Amino acid sequence: MKKRALIFTFVTYLTVAQNPILIPPTLSGTNISLTFQNGTHEFFSGVTTNTMGVNGNILGPTLILNQGDFVNFSVTNNIAETSTLHWHGLHVSAENDGGPHTTILPGETWTPSFTIMDKAGTFWYHPHLHHYTNAHVSKGIAGMIIVKDPEEAALDLPRTYGEDDFPIVIQTKDFDANGQIVVPSNNDDSIMVNATLDAQLDIPAQVVRLRLLNGSSMRTFNIGLNNNQTFYQIASDGGLLSAPLASTRLRMAPGERAEILIDATSLQGQTLFLMSYASEFQNGIYGATYPGMGQGMVLDGYNPNPLNGNDFNILQLDVVAPTANPVTSIPNALVTVTPIPEANADITRDLVMTPVQGGQNQLNGDFVINGTPFDLNVINYEIPLDNTEIWSITNQSAIGHPFHIHDVQFYVLDRNGNTPPLNEQGLKDVIYLLPQETVRFITKFEDFANPDVPYMYHCHMLYHEDRGMMGQFIVVDELGVDDADFKEGIAVYPNPTNGIVQIATKENNTLSKVIVYNILGSKVTETTNNIIDLSNLNSGVYLLKLVTSKGITTRKVVLN
Ligand code: C2O
Ligand code: CU
Ligand code: CU
Repeated sequence: MKKRALIFTFVTYLTVAQNPILIPPTLSGTNISLTFQNGTHEFFSGVTTNTMGVNGNILGPTLILNQGDFVNFSVTNNIAETSTLHWHGLHVSAENDGGPHTTILPGETWTPSFTIMDKAGTFWYHPHLHHYTNAHVSKGIAGMIIVKDPEEAALDLPRTYGEDDFPIVIQTKDFDANGQIVVPSNNDDSIMVNATLDAQLDIPAQVVRLRLLNGSSMRTFNIGLNNNQTFYQIASDGGLLSAPLASTRLRMAPGERAEILIDATSLQGQTLFLMSYASEFQNGIYGATYPGMGQGMVLDGYNPNPLNGNDFNILQLDVVAPTANPVTSIPNALVTVTPIPEANADITRDLVMTPVQGGQNQLNGDFVINGTPFDLNVINYEIPLDNTEIWSITNQSAIGHPFHIHDVQFYVLDRNGNTPPLNEQGLKDVIYLLPQETVRFITKFEDFANPDVPYMYHCHMLYHEDRGMMGQFIVVDELGVDDADFKEGIAVYPNPTNGIVQIATKENNTLSKVIVYNILGSKVTETTNNIIDLSNLNSGVYLLKLVTSKGITTRKVVLN
């Protein structure tokens, strides 16, 4: 098979045969079953490529989850290799996070269950087994997660999946002469959306929403529309921005998401292109002409590649007739974004990214955080529950890296001492650092503590991550539950609380329901969840009636 010839010039791009993009099916509700499987996919017509997928041959279903729902997942691994499944960006407990310690052996089923606590936004899921993340993601295991909440539902935004609200999973891959996916590779010259090469999408002539995910192993894109047409970014990794941000360019590194609106109201019959303006990248970005700061720094396999340092099309958008009840204008405002004040920080931690061996050949070597490669048996940080922390990350290598942290969303305080650009002023869980840059972010490690299962932080360039550019932290509840807090096999903590109350059970006791009463005996709320958020209630004393397998018991909780 001959490698596909990419067409870059505006004069000739209409000659490329376009393929309608795959829109992954959706799964929603509170019981979700996912099965990893081996499969095949025809990326190139007539060529069978071996793939991995979830509930199918390639990629996975889009999960549509409601904030506040308690969701039971069942994840079965039928790929004959050990793997894991991580919910990238979701705020979940460490044991549910699906990091490298939470392996799913071949033939096994993992059954995490948790409450969806995040704001409305675009997240994703992918495997996370140490050394194998790149292989499993590149071969096709990845899917989008859409979280919905009432705040987002109240806005006049497009939200009909596949009609005016589209999942756009952008990936590059390298195919060998037999049409098989090569992992790892620095020669990722095939660009695809939702596993479709030369992808084409019909969009109605109205305001449409694209949920962009850079699901590539290594490559950063400089997203824009042809003719420098304006689009409006409405969300970053962790949810909506305060207002739509009119832009013509958006840099997206691996792992990052952004939701954008395109106003196609008056464009029926026209064709637009979602592009990457990679010619505008400075060197030192995987995606630029030279991936290192100096032209003498080579990365084996990287050049020649027509995607490097050139502008290219990602997705053709053909504007067709509008739908019934279209959204026809861009809202003025979205949600209130309330960054954590810097003064709240309990501690600043400094992290530095360096090459293992410096110098001209550093791009072909490995990279590390704080001088040491990832070790599954070493906990790099122990973080007290409810700590508010500033993480100051410095890139002392010659290539840019996207830094990602599990458990939390963060607010960027500054980039090289300057206020971050507007599109980085919302919630983020991945932040890109050019060579020599320092970014400081602030976050709070709340709700979940587990002394046994760590969370990860790492570079989201999957080859770097697999080769050790990762670390891990545990969140410890120093004041929280210990054996003395258990009475009749059940503990309610923290108490007093600032809002979140957790109920832990042991000795084979299980919790089936919690009914909250105020001090006057009126019922306030009830839940089947073991985590209750009382933060919307007035301060005071509440009574929790706990229905358990060992009977009903009542506990008093003080809300500060
Ligand atoms: Cu998207 Cu730790 O990963
Ligand atoms: Cu993650
Ligand atoms: Cu990296």
